[in-house]
Amino acid sequence: MRRSGTSRRSWPKKSRCKMNDETRSLLAQANTALIRYPRFKALHNDIRECQEMSRLANEPQCMSLEGVTGAGKSTLVQDYVALFPRLEQTDGARIPIFYAETPSPVTVKGMAATLLARLGDPAAHHGTLWAMNFRLIRLMLACQVEMVILDDFHHLIDKETNRILEQVSDWLKVLIKETNIPFLVVGIEGKVERILETNAQLSRLFAVRQILQPFRCDPSDETSQQEFARFVQYAEQVIGIPLPVMLPRLDMLHRLHYATGGVVGNLMNLLRYAAWLTRQGNQAAMTLPILATAFDKRLAKHIKKSANPFLTTPDEVFVAEPVMNDGNPVGKRRQPSVAEALQTR
Ligand SMILES: Nc1ncnc2c1ncn2[C@@H]1O[C@H](COP(=O)(O)OP(=O)(O)OP(=O)(O)O)[C@@H](O)[C@H]1O
Ligand SMILES: [Mg+2]
Repeated sequence: MRRSGTSRRSWPKKSRCKMNDETRSLLAQANTALIRYPRFKALHNDIRECQEMSRLANEPQCMSLEGVTGAGKSTLVQDYVALFPRLEQTDGARIPIFYAETPSPVTVKGMAATLLARLGDPAAHHGTLWAMNFRLIRLMLACQVEMVILDDFHHLIDKETNRILEQVSDWLKVLIKETNIPFLVVGIEGKVERILETNAQLSRLFAVRQILQPFRCDPSDETSQQEFARFVQYAEQVIGIPLPVMLPRLDMLHRLHYATGGVVGNLMNLLRYAAWLTRQGNQAAMTLPILATAFDKRLAKHIKKSANPFLTTPDEVFVAEPVMNDGNPVGKRRQPSVAEALQTR
């Protein structure tokens, strides 16, 4: 009795562990895999141009990169940073690309201390502002920094007052001029531009201004559909689980686009969670109900859409219901045929 009781307890546990390990490694891959799509590579090129041209020019070639939350800005710049690893040498560190996040709330001293700490200054928070600036400039030059990437640059807009912290932007302009090192500032669309525009001298240094836009899937623009289709295909590959095949692919793409707004972070969030549910259920491919659950649990509140695009059955083409000003659906409409819906898209 005792022995059989022991085996009953231990056998399922062992089996669960094995499945979990396998599942965990596949899911870890799905969660960390990076997709370097054409626009991603083009932006890497822009960054590299700024870095290389600054070596030749007598003024640093700075760049800004904006985008909505989840557009993939931090992922993109961190992937660039990874191309230039920090080197620890006997005479100190070499940091070709220096990445730092803008603290929040931010002050001039707080910003200087953050950068000093990231560069490895053991007394980052000590001294007068003058002394901190002196150490910062000296350390950036000693570490042979070729470019500074400042993420979450929109923190220079005070959350409570919505005012731009002009002292910080002015301090930054001086730092760029004193070090002659180009900066790439990264942040929320519209906000970065607003900060740069309030300081003409700072603005002039930022000749390259780019926006990482969400994917479009516009029926009147085949290129936009193809670009989105290709990204979804890459995502399916890195996630390792195919999307439902019972739907025409174009219909599936429109549902995914409606569900995510074409924002990479939303799309990856949806597909990663759907993959997790699929593996938990030991299924080989995602199903519409799985995607519907993933949308409800992971995106619906953030996206604020009136309908769950994965609840429509495969023989109907999903069409978003018109929405009243208060966000409520106007009412139920007849579902158009596949041909009608595809024509009107
Ligand atoms: N090229 C990519 N390949 C795979 N996943 C990506 C890619 N770009 C972004 N993601 C995923 O999207 C999510 C959001 O990305 P990220 O944090 O870079 O967005 P962000 O634009 O910096 O957002 P925020 O403005 O909120 O900081 C992350 O989970 C990331 O893994
Ligand atoms: Mg970010």
